[in-house]
Amino acid sequence: MNVLVTGGLGYIGSHTCVQLIEAGMNPILIDNLHNSKLAVLERIEKLVGTCPIFHQGDIRNKVFLFSVFAREKIDTVIHFAGLKAVGESVEKPLEYYDNNVNGTLVLMDTMRNAGITSIIISSSATVYGDSASVPIREDFPTFATNPYGRSKLMVEECLTDFQKANPGWSITLLRYFNPVGSHKSGEIGEDPQGVPNNLMPYISQVAVGRRKYLSVFGDDYPTPDGSGIRDYIHVVDLANGHLAALRKVSTMSGLHIYNLGTGDGTSVFEMVAAFSKASGKEIAYKVALRRLGDIAECWADPTKAYVELGWEATHSLDDMVMDTWRWQSNNPSGYPGN
Ligand code: NAD
Ligand code: UD1
Repeated sequence: MNVLVTGGLGYIGSHTCVQLIEAGMNPILIDNLHNSKLAVLERIEKLVGTCPIFHQGDIRNKVFLFSVFAREKIDTVIHFAGLKAVGESVEKPLEYYDNNVNGTLVLMDTMRNAGITSIIISSSATVYGDSASVPIREDFPTFATNPYGRSKLMVEECLTDFQKANPGWSITLLRYFNPVGSHKSGEIGEDPQGVPNNLMPYISQVAVGRRKYLSVFGDDYPTPDGSGIRDYIHVVDLANGHLAALRKVSTMSGLHIYNLGTGDGTSVFEMVAAFSKASGKEIAYKVALRRLGDIAECWADPTKAYVELGWEATHSLDDMVMDTWRWQSNNPSGYPGN
């Protein structure tokens, strides 16, 4: 199967590409290198022995996208390309709506013109806002608290309308909880540019000596140890969730929505302790004020993905921290190059 992967050099895209090749599929990658480096391609080749086809360009560029669809034989699409930093989205809402919403619309229009009617799209647990209860099911109300979340919700709503009008299409929305970890080889991983926004890359940069200490955003939440609880999911499990969706629903017309999470919650203090154990390094931290917009706890009910896709997360928290540490300690400054 030939799978066009937008944002294929990014964190989740690169791991999915490896899993696709190992499963005998043929990914064709697009990326504008806004948040990734060409070195990722060499690492993928090192891992799987073959370099995937790569087209450098922007999904909002209709001429570029049309030329890729004209040149390649594409059966289906997995769409990762987009911007993902909540804080930045508050400062640059237009950029987020343009990249995430407009980018998706240009992609859909190009697919329609090329006669390709099947797509899997990255969504996020952020679309549940501050859910009234946990674990969170797919039928819970959706709500956005910031421009990033709103851009994801807008994409979901646009595609829901589109699928209603075009019932022959297969559209799959995968709502990721908190992706962490890296390929067990330590060759590919998360390489945030600048100061990391998310917990796991921040902790691993403290462990490797790039940052002095972690700020724990609040120890007064109504949780057992007072820190925020999230559903961390290993990125290889997440990648395999895409393969499960490809196999099970990408040829079935309809709108398919799945949570991809483990169903377990881990607190910030628990994550610090697990990382410290895995790395053998002390993780210095200071308790700071709560981060604006943060919620106390968020974890998935992943039953639907298990029942309908036959998918479930298999990596433990220890796997997540060990694999993150292998990647970070082998690549203290991330990928080489600009
Ligand atoms: P990432 O930034 O590592 O990967 C995204 C890739 O898309 C990057 O390589 C970037 O250069 C590329 N890109 C961005 N805009 C583009 C454009 N207009 N044209 C072509 N390429 C473009 O992010 P990621 O963590 O791999 O996330 C992938 C998707 O999953 C995103 O849509 C993100 O919103 C979503 N998501 C991520 C998380 C997470 O915590 N990582 C959680 C929930 C949802
Ligand atoms: C964040 C985004 C969410 C996005 C997700 C994945 C916000 C408000 N939400 O979710 O929209 O889908 O990333 O990209 O940004 N923490 C610290 N110190 C840190 C960093 C985080 O204590 O330096 C805590 C947070 O308060 C939270 C937990 O760690 O309790 C996880 O934070 P993070 O990794 O940023 O993920 P989310 O907040 O769940």
